[in-house]
Amino acid sequence: MKVLLIGSGGREHALAWKLAQSPLMTKLYAAPGNPGMAEEAELVALAVEDHAAVITFCRDKDIDFIVVGPEAPLVAGLADDLRDAGFVVFGPSKAAAQLEGSKGFTKDICARYNIPTGAYQRFTAAEPAKAYIREQGAPIVVKADGLAAGKGVTVAMTLDEALFAVDDCFAGAFGAAGAEVVVEAYLDGEEASFFCLSDGKTALALATAQDHKRVGDGDTGPNTGGMGAYSPAPVMTPDMVERTMQDIIQPTISGMADSGMPFTGVFFAGLMITAKGPELIEYNVRFGDPETQVLMMRLKSDLLPILYAASTGTLDQVSADWHDEAALTVVMASKGYPGAYDKATPIAALPQDTDGAKVFHAGTALQDGKLVATGGRVLNLTGLGTTVADAQARAYALVDAVEWDNGFCRRDIGWRAIGRDA
Ligand code: AMP
Ligand code: GLY
Repeated sequence: MKVLLIGSGGREHALAWKLAQSPLMTKLYAAPGNPGMAEEAELVALAVEDHAAVITFCRDKDIDFIVVGPEAPLVAGLADDLRDAGFVVFGPSKAAAQLEGSKGFTKDICARYNIPTGAYQRFTAAEPAKAYIREQGAPIVVKADGLAAGKGVTVAMTLDEALFAVDDCFAGAFGAAGAEVVVEAYLDGEEASFFCLSDGKTALALATAQDHKRVGDGDTGPNTGGMGAYSPAPVMTPDMVERTMQDIIQPTISGMADSGMPFTGVFFAGLMITAKGPELIEYNVRFGDPETQVLMMRLKSDLLPILYAASTGTLDQVSADWHDEAALTVVMASKGYPGAYDKATPIAALPQDTDGAKVFHAGTALQDGKLVATGGRVLNLTGLGTTVADAQARAYALVDAVEWDNGFCRRDIGWRAIGRDA
């Protein structure tokens, strides 16, 4: 099978690494990819926003299957255009991708199909939003409706913070994404990420993972895209997984089908495990980054037929087996991230991959043959171990072998799970 993978981050490197191991794979292309992925895939300099160019490439190379990594091309309708051109694509339609592209859309689906989530209201003007906030009181959560690169959410502990967030959104802090605002109830509990494939009717639960969103040790400092992750997430007990499938995932699958927008691809459900059980914080319609890095380390089965089945309505014919071991990944980021950081800083040395220890590239490039850091999140040092603590030791051994002066990482990835084991 000839496959095109769209994307260039650590998530896509992990997908490429796993896909390339498939006996069914004859050729893997990655657009645009990154230098780490060059081991597994041929990199192609396609402008992914140019759907016609992607279609032409797929026709020229006789591509059998396209896997879309990031959300932006999905929200922009790349999967629809490729399907219209006759290709098999992993990833939801533009309509179904509203589950990530519009927080208000998702809340309305939750309300209509009785999916547990915080109570909410949608607003297109500041004054009614503020009146609602005053009525509800703090803590309360204010969200820009659209895609805001992970920045549009304010978890307000005080009324003033919430009122300010409303003004900020409507003043254009998040551009068009903030033209509508969702105000929702604050949910108290432990967060977990849950991944589940869907072909529009059938669900296949994948493994669980937990991310570390804050930049600093002890979960301090500003929010980031994720500074590290591990799998499995102890909070997601088999009972919690079953309740999530029954109360959240299944009604979403049938609700989306019922609404004329069947969902195919991966649900990445951000959950809050509250005293009442799992509640939905948000959906993403693509794999998590860096959660995918740990999921791929633990996946025993061949990924390619599973993703293909999710894209061809045959998910009921496949299953996914997982290694019992835990996996943990540490993100190395450019100093300054999530704020401003220097670009093109040299990475002098990287450790060798071994069985159970893998360096994924997330934001690197080659300049004059030398490896440099180009992104905020740059490397994902990933280990597999019998316990989360073993996996952590392995991941940090990789971190310590990286020679990159401008890099930093958190030193406590996995603390919550390791604390539970102890
Ligand atoms: P989101 O971009 O929707 O994932 O939100 C970013 C982060 O804000 C989440 O990972 C949670 O930590 C927090 N958050 C979002 N919504 C809520 C909520 N209703 N209650 C408590 N925390 C929330
Ligand atoms: N790690 C969170 C995300 O992928 O959005």
